[in-house]
Amino acid sequence: MSIILLINGPNLNLLGEREPDVYGTDTLADCVGDARAAAEAAGHTLEDFQSNHEGELIEAIQGARGRCAAVVINPGAFTHTSYAIADALAAYDGVKVELHLSNTNAREEWRRTSVVGPVVTGTVAGFGRTGYRLAVEAAVASLQEA
Ligand code: DQA
Repeated sequence: MSIILLINGPNLNLLGEREPDVYGTDTLADCVGDARAAAEAAGHTLEDFQSNHEGELIEAIQGARGRCAAVVINPGAFTHTSYAIADALAAYDGVKVELHLSNTNAREEWRRTSVVGPVVTGTVAGFGRTGYRLAVEAAVASLQEA
């Protein structure tokens, strides 16, 4: 049994209220619940963490080193700007899944660049709440292949 760490970045605490036309009406607790169910169905434990602060997200990634088998991360808008989060992920050598509710490639130009994309195992985007389950299942599959 391994630990999968689910990290959610800025403004994701507002899921359900925030731009529901883009992000849906389900809450972060709903999404985390789906992720936890998927992890536990595969015999793993899910830890979850949300922060609006870049440094706290970096510390959570660093804290996964040597402790968690996989990190699933929705970095919110830091996806597009944070070389520091990209560096923290590069220094983490477990399975890494980048996750987005929306299809960032189909939105504004500035959302089409992910600075974390090059350092993760893979990306799940555009499937809304379902993406939380899919991202954990992708992490589990990747762990089984390793
Ligand atoms: C997001 C996409 C980002 O561009 C945005 O800043 C978010 C949410 C998503 O889950 O679709 O906060 O990561």
